[in-house]
Amino acid sequence: MDQSLDYNYKVVKQFAIATILWGVVGMLVGVIIAAQLAWPALNLDIPWLTYGRLRPLHTNAVIFAFGISGLFATSYYVVQRTCQVRLFSDKLAAFTFWGWQAVILAAVVTLPMGFTRGKEYAELEWPISILIAVVWIAYATVFFGTIIKRKVKHIYVANWFFGGYILAVTILHVVNSMSMPASLFKSYSMYSGVQDAMIQWWYGHNAVGFILTAGYLGMVYYFIPKQAERPVYSYKLSIVHFWALIFTYMWAGPHHLHYTALPDWAQSLGMVFSLILLAPSWGGMINGMMTLSGAWHKLRTDPILKLMIVSLSFYGMATFEGPMMSIKTVNALSHYTDWGIAHVHGGALGWVGFITMGSIYYLIPRMAGQTKMYSTKLIDLHFWVATIGVVLYIAAMWIAGVMQGLMWRAVNADGTLTYTFVEGVKATYPYYVVRFIGGVLYLAGMCIMAYNAWMTLKGRETTRARIPDMSLAA
Ligand code: HEM
Ligand code: HEM
Repeated sequence: MDQSLDYNYKVVKQFAIATILWGVVGMLVGVIIAAQLAWPALNLDIPWLTYGRLRPLHTNAVIFAFGISGLFATSYYVVQRTCQVRLFSDKLAAFTFWGWQAVILAAVVTLPMGFTRGKEYAELEWPISILIAVVWIAYATVFFGTIIKRKVKHIYVANWFFGGYILAVTILHVVNSMSMPASLFKSYSMYSGVQDAMIQWWYGHNAVGFILTAGYLGMVYYFIPKQAERPVYSYKLSIVHFWALIFTYMWAGPHHLHYTALPDWAQSLGMVFSLILLAPSWGGMINGMMTLSGAWHKLRTDPILKLMIVSLSFYGMATFEGPMMSIKTVNALSHYTDWGIAHVHGGALGWVGFITMGSIYYLIPRMAGQTKMYSTKLIDLHFWVATIGVVLYIAAMWIAGVMQGLMWRAVNADGTLTYTFVEGVKATYPYYVVRFIGGVLYLAGMCIMAYNAWMTLKGRETTRARIPDMSLAA
């Protein structure tokens, strides 16, 4: 009997479809706010369409709806395949799916209405925050429960990364969300002043480290070897990578608070740990890339592999840029400017987006009982449209960011500012238009993916994968 019949693929399939749908929605909101920055009248004077309300909707939709749905789908798939057992509990897994969709819908309703805790990436008010914690604990139970009942002695490295991300997010979310409710939709943080800022950016930076990095490295260590049909370049390095990365990330948060009321030593500590972070990040990136040793020719014909490898290049770029931006003198130029937005989207579109898309392209045919996606040409088209989109986006924001930083700090001989703030805004306008075009291209790629996935899933309906899938952890 095909051993895949013993796995729960229903929940994997549900999350894979949710990833694509929420990807389209989240990126559409991104394109709308990008358009509003170029043409502010587009808020149509309707309060819930204003930039201030749609911006957190965008970040929540892309990170929590698109990003985390992708992590649910892939972690549930990988933990089953590498442990060679069915998920710990089907009911609890189904609860995580519907519970998470409820969280997303609550965000879609409350954020445009203006309900927010005012903490970036932790905006959702306390009742939703509690729901997140409940769903997350169910997720941890399903994931670690599956690891405990595994049939294979070894715990494959991808599971370490997924496990680290699940555990860290539990701690980060619970600690940063501690607040005092004032009413059903308003609460105040339990921390005050600079402590609140410190806790917030310990959370914020580790959301980057554990959600937007560790979780996706779990994908790297499973799906790249599978797609390339090669073993991980160095398994030893992958273990060193894991421990070095999770240890270092935890200390780097203060780089978000340079030149603030945070004690100077804490800022410097954050900077030093950020610089150290370059080493494990690049070690992991190189390990992923070198997995293609002897299989580089596959990049010519396999657009899924192209997405995965280009994603690692963007990862390398963002993790080089990040440590540079954490140096206080560099941060004095980059902070508050669009350079930060370029850095974020190099990581978000290039790294997080591409590795998720590659992994979901791997999963969809398997969930549909097909041997491959409906159209390989469309995957290739997606790859190129999205790549041009990312490049336009980040190049425009890099130029805009450096220009803004230089204009803001320029002073005349008599000490007065050379430029007014509005002159900076005016000079940025063309770059906002270019960023908008880049965003439209990236969104178009996501729509192509949705169509391709729809056609693949329509081909033959089954929740069981029939493709033989050699186990990495056997
Ligand atoms: C070695 C790794 C990295 C380091 C040291 C690092 C460092 C930094 C620094 C210094 C900032 C600017 C802080 C400021 O001026 O406010 C920043 C912002 C940011 N980075 Fe990174 N970065 C790294 C990798 C990444 C990756 C891979 C992503 C993935 C998407 C990412 C996402 C972000 C986000 C979302 C912000 C904006 C936070 C905010 O202000 O809302 N970073 N990072
Ligand atoms: C079509 C694609 C996208 C477009 C057009 C887009 C556009 C935007 C815009 C206009 C902003 C506000 C910038 C500002 O305040 O100046 C923003 C912020 C942000 N976006 Fe996107 N975005 C896209 C996709 C994504 C994806 C896929 C992710 C994550 C996986 C992401 C993560 C973020 C984050 C974390 C911020 C906040 C950055 C910060 O506060 O420093 N975006 N995006």
